[in-house]
Amino acid sequence: MIYIDPPYNTGNTFAYADRRGDWAGMMRPRLGLAREVLREDGLIYISIDINELFELKGLCDEVFGAENFVANFIWVSNLKGRQLGFGPAGTHEYILTYARDARQVGKLRGSVAELTRLMPEVYRLPKREVKRDARGEYVTKNELYNTNSKFNEVTAPSMVYAIHYCVKTGELAVTDVDEPAPGPASSGWVTALPHPNAKPGVKWHAWRWSRGKVLADREDLEFEVTGRGPSRKLTIRTKIRDFDTTTLKDLIMGPSTVTGLRELERLGLGGIFETPKPVDLLKVLLKVATEPGDLVMDFFAGSGSFGVAAAETGRPFILVQLEEPFADPSDPRTARAHELGLETIADLTSERLRRVGVDYIEARI
Ligand SMILES: C[S@@+](CC[C@H](N)C(=O)[O-])C[C@H]1O[C@@H](n2cnc3c(N)ncnc32)[C@H](O)[C@@H]1O
Repeated sequence: MIYIDPPYNTGNTFAYADRRGDWAGMMRPRLGLAREVLREDGLIYISIDINELFELKGLCDEVFGAENFVANFIWVSNLKGRQLGFGPAGTHEYILTYARDARQVGKLRGSVAELTRLMPEVYRLPKREVKRDARGEYVTKNELYNTNSKFNEVTAPSMVYAIHYCVKTGELAVTDVDEPAPGPASSGWVTALPHPNAKPGVKWHAWRWSRGKVLADREDLEFEVTGRGPSRKLTIRTKIRDFDTTTLKDLIMGPSTVTGLRELERLGLGGIFETPKPVDLLKVLLKVATEPGDLVMDFFAGSGSFGVAAAETGRPFILVQLEEPFADPSDPRTARAHELGLETIADLTSERLRRVGVDYIEARI
């Protein structure tokens, strides 16, 4: 996985149109290299604001192929809003995301508990009772039958059958709907017929699982018997064991630009770098796209926030940062950087990693 937060069109010596061309000229070969070093199932996230979004989309379509577009995340960087002369106050940036090969990218899944903690406005922790069996914790949500009435004994005959369960012994049997249970109700047998189907011309809903799967994976089914005597009823639900995961939404809020600035201030590195990304934002991106141990890279490292996020989530990382000097004597950031003995942005990148105690090897090229 690669994350980049490229510099914006800030040059002021060219006409606007030329500046644009320059930016694309700077980005195109870098994106091409990024694609080359990505793993076949790799992903690139690119932070960008509205000014370069469309140009960047065009570049990425060229380099990665439009079919490898994955998402354009909205990151709420400043909910207070920033008024820039006219129009509405801006609150967000984007994170344009492409895959090396979109067919190899599955759903981006994250921990619902973590995402809810970070973004309570975006995620909700489902209120579900957590139960436990020999295999561990699980929750139940859906019954075993297929709620879609178009699956029935006519369209899916092999999926319509009776399930018999013995409360006393835990034995399980499957038969055609009109066949009896292997033993009498008095010895504990209770039957679940498929759910009645309201669709004209058919009688039953299909089950979601085949007969074979019901018998083979019965540990992932919960059998609940209610009522007594002839009104005894068997309800079968599927157990969900990875109930802590959810699909990432394309809206990210919570960690903001201010969060990123505070992180640097807390390390005694405030007043030098204006646009550090918050570490938690990068952790979300890292966790949903990679596993611990996967190599990740940021080649516009800036203050090194991505390195911190990678280290804290157990991903080995490569950061690249130009030895861009703090040189403008009229800029108060320059004085502050020099006070701390930092000559270049690359010095800031390594100083931050050092201050948070991240293990890293440095090469100056
Ligand atoms: C927006 S900052 C990245 C901030 C970083 N994501 C962070 O959280 O601190 C962009 C970075 O690109 C670097 N940069 C500027 N022009 C560049 C160029 N032509 N080639 C490579 N890097 C450049 C700057 O030094 C700066 O560190």
